Amino acid sequence: MAKKIVVASGKGGVGKSSVSAGLSCALQRAGHNVLVIDCDIGLRSLDIMLGASEEMLFNWGDVITGRCSADNALTPTAYGPTLLCAPKEFEHEYTAEAMQKLAAEYEDRFEYMIFDSPAGVGMGFKLSAAAADSAIIVATPDEVCVRNGAIAADNLAALGISQSRLIINRFDVKATVKRRLLNIDDVIDSTHLRLLGIVEQDSAVSFNMSRGKPLPPKSNAAKAFARIAARLDGKRVPLKLD
Ligand SMILES: Nc1ncnc2c1ncn2[C@@H]1O[C@H](COP(=O)(O)OP(=O)(O)O)[C@@H](O)[C@H]1O
Ligand SMILES: [Mg+2]
Repeated sequence: MAKKIVVASGKGGVGKSSVSAGLSCALQRAGHNVLVIDCDIGLRSLDIMLGASEEMLFNWGDVITGRCSADNALTPTAYGPTLLCAPKEFEHEYTAEAMQKLAAEYEDRFEYMIFDSPAGVGMGFKLSAAAADSAIIVATPDEVCVRNGAIAADNLAALGISQSRLIINRFDVKATVKRRLLNIDDVIDSTHLRLLGIVEQDSAVSFNMSRGKPLPPKSNAAKAFARIAARLDGKRVPLKLD
């Protein structure tokens, strides 16, 4: 039975999709069978990030509406995790119950299911959380993002997901030292969330992923995702930056 994790933030552009892609690849590399589900209806991005935009034929909306089978919607990616692409537009059949039924189609075949949430706390956010049993909140170390992350976690708790853990993304030691950004303790204090990991500002994320290329294994981001994957697996991995 898969661990079903929604990756959310409230705010857009903080790295939810990058974290979903990077973490899915790291979990797959650690030997797990991973399904990553792009829940950003109309604004999908994981097909590009995972180098699978040519492969995509169907999306999860096609499964819900009966246009294709659960198997046919699975899109293989070059870097290991299997992808379910997001539909191009919203349809009224996309309900929380439909998402739960969709997840049930796959949960025995995968060890992890990662739901990449859209921005906001509206309908798309709720759909992305409908089948999840825990959450990762992604926040960049600035006041607005941190507050939105805390709000997203509160909304998830109201939906019955009480376990939310925090990834601080785009962390930049130099900017923190100059007090332009919040430090790690500030972020944890403001969100009251358990820290799962820190991903540094790393040009490998923006450069490679936007071109559908894998993160170089020695990049700081790839190493951070490997540590986060190990923590999700229950291993004790010290928090450290490269
Ligand atoms: N750790 C990082 N270092 C550098 N750039 C990053 C990092 N995380 C995300 N980005 C960049 O930030 C932008 C938004 O990321 P994305 O994952 O699409 O955010 P979201 O899904 O939250 O909207 C992208 O251009 C991405 O490459
Ligand atoms: Mg996104």
